Amino acid sequence: MKKTAYILIVLIIILVGGYSYIQLAFPKVGPAPEMLIEITPERIERGEYLAYNVMLCMDCHAVRDWSVYGGPPTPGTEGAGGDRFDQSMGFPGEFYSRNITPAGIGDWTDGEIYRLLTTGVKKDGDPIFPVMPYLNYGKMDPEDIKSVIAFLRTMEPIQASHPESKPDFPFNLILRTLPQEATPMPIPPKEDQIAYGEYLLNAAACADCHTNFEKGKYVGDFLAGGRVFQSPDGSILRSSNLTPHETGLKNWTSKMFVERFKIFVDSTYIPQAVKPGEFQTIMPWAMYAGMKTEDLEAIFAYIQTIEPSDNFVEKYIPASGK
Ligand code: HEC
Ligand code: HEC
Repeated sequence: MKKTAYILIVLIIILVGGYSYIQLAFPKVGPAPEMLIEITPERIERGEYLAYNVMLCMDCHAVRDWSVYGGPPTPGTEGAGGDRFDQSMGFPGEFYSRNITPAGIGDWTDGEIYRLLTTGVKKDGDPIFPVMPYLNYGKMDPEDIKSVIAFLRTMEPIQASHPESKPDFPFNLILRTLPQEATPMPIPPKEDQIAYGEYLLNAAACADCHTNFEKGKYVGDFLAGGRVFQSPDGSILRSSNLTPHETGLKNWTSKMFVERFKIFVDSTYIPQAVKPGEFQTIMPWAMYAGMKTEDLEAIFAYIQTIEPSDNFVEKYIPASGK
């Protein structure tokens, strides 16, 4: 009896100690940098392009309209946030994208927003959920991050507030260990098309969806697809294999690739209504469609250079009985 009680006490000490350690020691990133970002017309233009069409801040920080193909942001909600990521979609908790217009983060310093974007640590020192690809943003050119911040400062303030995000236990502890110091890299020159394409693919976080992900970890080959997206209606969607294999994009030309995106620029194509039970996709086509042709071409040039992966993906399984 005594021995069991002893073991129990030791266990409790270890658990409480471990818990407090993770709470106090993580996230392990330094204080927000001191910086004052000058708002120039060049930065606003670049920042707006990145926020809407490459990094897709305005896709997640909106309410996506799932009655339209590809779920574009509901007009007027861009930047105001409110999109919900929860257990019904396979997430370990309930997370809401925040209001990132000046009405939401107007009181954050430039350095605080910079640290959040590049390390995932908020003004108050707590980490955010990594559905927002902050590890990717941490590898970007600081000038691009500054452009996004300059643009955010010029947005029309929209009043909107959302419930607090609630990670499930024990994910709330794991979450604290994920932020990392940023490792910024300069943007490659456009002439170096493959390196430039790789930079954009990272900024657009294509691999987050297009690499298989199981039990909280990336598995399988880079960009080989197969990641499952659960839908609250019970249907199953899987991401495509983007590698240059027969089961991927081997037989695609650069022109086909660009057109696959650009079709969504045509205003007669969107909004295209999707009824419950019909094929729907989370691939943010409408937003990426605004990417410059040369940028899409660079992404294609880069993905043609990665290791081909033999991975046939069945993209869609409708909800049974519907
Ligand atoms: C894939 C979706 C997604 C993308 C893309 C994304 N975010 Fe987020 N962002 C979120 C979610 C969800 C949260 C809240 C996470 C949480 O509460 O743990 C968040 C949190 C934030 C916060 C913290 C705000 C606060 O009040 O706590 C800021 C600032 C932010 N995002 C800005 C941006 C910017 C700028 C971009 C583009 C460069 C961006 N986000 C791209 C989903 C996204
Ligand atoms: C939020 C998740 C998500 C992100 C981010 C994403 N994709 Fe996708 N993508 C998907 C899913 C799911 C599909 C399969 C359904 C469909 O065709 O729409 C898909 C389909 C595609 C297809 C069509 C392939 C085919 O076989 O028809 C291409 C091409 C593609 N994605 C390229 C990209 C590129 C390039 C990026 C980054 C710029 C990207 N995706 C980012 C989820 C995503």
